[in-house]
Amino acid sequence: MSEQKLEIKNVSKRFGNVIACNDVNLQITPGTSTSIIGPNGAGKSTLLNIICGEVLPDRGNVMWQDTLLIGHTIQDIARLGIARMFQDLKLFDAMTVYENMLVYAQTITRYRRAAPQRFVAGSDNIDEQIEVALRQLNLLDVADRRVRELSYAERKLVALGRVMITRASVVLLDEPASGLDKVNLEIMLEVIEALKASGTVLLVVEHNLSIVERLASRAILIEEGSVIADGSPAEVFRDSNFGRVYFALQETT
Ligand SMILES: Nc1ncnc2c1ncn2[C@@H]1O[C@H](COP(=O)(O)OP(=O)(O)O)[C@@H](O)[C@H]1O
Ligand SMILES: [Mg+2]
Repeated sequence: MSEQKLEIKNVSKRFGNVIACNDVNLQITPGTSTSIIGPNGAGKSTLLNIICGEVLPDRGNVMWQDTLLIGHTIQDIARLGIARMFQDLKLFDAMTVYENMLVYAQTITRYRRAAPQRFVAGSDNIDEQIEVALRQLNLLDVADRRVRELSYAERKLVALGRVMITRASVVLLDEPASGLDKVNLEIMLEVIEALKASGTVLLVVEHNLSIVERLASRAILIEEGSVIADGSPAEVFRDSNFGRVYFALQETT
């Protein structure tokens, strides 16, 4: 049986003169929840974009369970079980909350019918699954509202809902906590914790250090595209590199 491991090998990416990813090597093992931290422009989003197929690296490979992801489309990578929540959400604004969820659920189930082991772990009924997710997100009351009419926090929870409904094995979250009020932040964090408890491999870009401590068993510090510290959050927070870049981090929080 292939190993449930996400492997990033010698990945580099430049945008003009900017080195967004500089020979990144990482192994993300099952049952782990990893936070990616670092100043603005460090290359955190680019790394997630490379994993999910949104950005093609100049060099290097990304492997998931012995499958080479580089060169696959973003849709194919999603169908392989890797779901991404974007910093700018990328919702279907003219569609309702329910419809946003349905589009994602249908895209994935159509494929998973061939290999349904993970999807059928819960209920087989899509409507039921959407309802369960919306209830967890406290969005049932707005299920039939168009997404563009919602508050930022509600929109952000819809974006998380779409990730939940795919039942992905790997979930990539880009600053899920930013801009949320206390109540919605708690909903967001509880759902992420539930994903973590269900064995989902989490990779979360996050600035808030107390949230990093709460969600992550591992922290990876990135500066100018390079990994400069990697370990438990406590270890990384003690690292001399962390102290050096911490002011930049604070300015972006
Ligand atoms: N599509 C792009 N075109 C040009 N430059 C980009 C693009 N995406 C990211 N960059 C640049 O790459 C660097 C890393 O960006 P990003 O990965 O978004 O950083 P972070 O998420 O850590 O703030 C930044 O200097 C950014 O301006
Ligand atoms: Mg970013």
